[in-house]
Amino acid sequence: MQRQLEGRVAVVTGAARGIGFAIAERLAGQGAHVVISDVDHSAGQQSVARIANNGGSSSFAAVDLSQPDDIRRASDEIFRQHPRIDILVNNAGIVSRGGIETVELEEFQRLMMIDLTAVFLLTKAFLPSMTAAGWGRIINIASVAGQQGGGLFGNSCYAAAKGAVIAFSKGVAREAGRSGVTCNAICPGLTDTALTSELTIAQREQIISTIPVGRPGEPEDIAEAVGFLASDAASFITGVTLNVDGGLMRH
Ligand SMILES: NC(=O)c1ccc[n+]([C@@H]2O[C@H](COP(=O)([O-])OP(=O)(O)OC[C@H]3O[C@@H](n4cnc5c(N)ncnc54)[C@H](O)[C@@H]3O)[C@@H](O)[C@H]2O)c1
Repeated sequence: MQRQLEGRVAVVTGAARGIGFAIAERLAGQGAHVVISDVDHSAGQQSVARIANNGGSSSFAAVDLSQPDDIRRASDEIFRQHPRIDILVNNAGIVSRGGIETVELEEFQRLMMIDLTAVFLLTKAFLPSMTAAGWGRIINIASVAGQQGGGLFGNSCYAAAKGAVIAFSKGVAREAGRSGVTCNAICPGLTDTALTSELTIAQREQIISTIPVGRPGEPEDIAEAVGFLASDAASFITGVTLNVDGGLMRH
């Protein structure tokens, strides 16, 4: 793997496990120092140790993305240790299931806070350091649910949050383009993680039957796409919604 991100600092949210951890491993493999940001302290520390075992550089920053004050505290703390953040991967997310009649306002607001408002707050915190440096990468992990209105995986509320992340990414790409900062959204399809382990075998089989390549994604499939978008090779790609879904979404 080319160490083309040597000297860069990346913040990856929700990197204690799943897709976020694979992204952290990928960026560390490309030479970046990765700040693993998560609400799960012990899994986050274990992720730092795993990356170190593979020769990568990372550190852990605790954050609860459901709390705006904690996001501010965590981003201040990250800035104290790393005055310049080059790459922000907004990956952390929770899912909401079931029909709208079963979702209460409190659950909707928590989902919007973690899946959407935190993306806004972290972009607001880290974008100025990128524009000042004249180089930056913001990569937001949305979902195919944001394009097709949910489905078996996630309901209308989850789709609304992820759809807004896609639109927000396009807007930030427009606003930051001239400063050397790109902003793109990646939409995973079904990807094997703890998040999808709640699906029944029948639900899982039904989704797989609609995937042209005939298999669910692995976290590494998403990480590969992030690694490319974070590289210099992707400097002319911004405002894109990249489906990494085995061909599930076909427009
Ligand atoms: N797995 C899939 O099939 C799939 C499909 C489409 C999109 N996605 C998106 O990919 C992203 C990662 O999903 P995953 O499958 O790896 O999920 P996961 O549940 O395995 O991991 C999510 C991580 O986010 C962290 N997190 C949750 N709430 C948090 C909070 N309040 N503050 C800080 N961290 C918090 C968790 O501790 C965990 O480490 C999510 O945004 C998800 O919506 C996943």
